[in-house]
Amino acid sequence: MRLGFVGTGSMGGMLVRAFVRSGLPDVEVAAYNRTAWKLDRIIVENPNVRKMDSASSLAKFSDFIFLCVKPADVLTVLKEIRTSMSPDKFLISINSAWSLSELESEVSSKVIKIIPSITQEALSGVMLTMYGSRATPTDRQLFEATCRGISFPVVIKENDVRVCSDLTSCGPAFLAFVLQSFASAAVRQGGIPPQQADQLVKYMIYGLGKLFVKEGYEFEEIISRVSLPGGVTEAGLKVLKPAMEGVFDDVLTTTKHFQGQHTKDK
Ligand SMILES: NC(=O)c1ccc[n+]([C@@H]2O[C@H](COP(=O)([O-])OP(=O)(O)OC[C@H]3O[C@@H](n4cnc5c(N)ncnc54)[C@H](OP(=O)(O)O)[C@@H]3O)[C@@H](O)[C@H]2O)c1
Repeated sequence: MRLGFVGTGSMGGMLVRAFVRSGLPDVEVAAYNRTAWKLDRIIVENPNVRKMDSASSLAKFSDFIFLCVKPADVLTVLKEIRTSMSPDKFLISINSAWSLSELESEVSSKVIKIIPSITQEALSGVMLTMYGSRATPTDRQLFEATCRGISFPVVIKENDVRVCSDLTSCGPAFLAFVLQSFASAAVRQGGIPPQQADQLVKYMIYGLGKLFVKEGYEFEEIISRVSLPGGVTEAGLKVLKPAMEGVFDDVLTTTKHFQGQHTKDK
């Protein structure tokens, strides 16, 4: 299986590094970036990545072509690769501004849309996945088996992409901010060193994540196991509950109406 990446910026670079580290058998990784030296930096650390000299040669070489450019650059790349995108190939777009049907109208290949997350840097976290009309059940199995090497692929409806990516792609930043605030309060209120507070919170969230995913705990189970009637955790939760009311509704209302970088001409 040949995976090709057009654009090796923040997200494309992360996906290239993740697939190289995934150790998936029979996977070859190739890449092309507009500014060649930026790709060279990645290749120095990952010498097995094949450097291509154009988007069209990358498309000819690859089975899965990951389009990892900003929305405004998508059309330029599509024009370059269009003739190489035969029906047996897969075009995988990582931006939400281009719909599956718009992409299908540009190429004759199968089209998939994914929303990666920074968590793929750690070969984990959710990869939101949406399929175009040409992807067969066998294609889907093949794609998800490949993505499982670096993530937990979850298929969603295209209309739900905003709220789902708020949870999986913006979520790490939202929760990192909440955890940072928690650790800072411990420094102010408990007088412990900042480094120690950060370390305690990071290892706490690592263990909590394992309880959710590996041990199958529900949110309520964690709360009731830790918060005993009349205890200190219950007292803390009594402060937290009213303070949190509506906070994430406001966050999600704001992201829902945000246009900025999601327009194609930006
Ligand atoms: N950042 C996130 O957390 C996140 C999460 C999910 C999805 N996304 C989506 O991912 C997409 C890329 O975001 P990003 O943050 O990775 O952007 P980025 O860091 O700017 O990377 C884009 C890359 O595309 C390259 N490029 C542009 N035009 C090209 C062309 N014609 N041929 C080859 N390479 C070209 C750029 O090359 P140069 O080196 O010449 O600039 C740059 O390296 C966006 O649509 C974004 O919405 C981002």
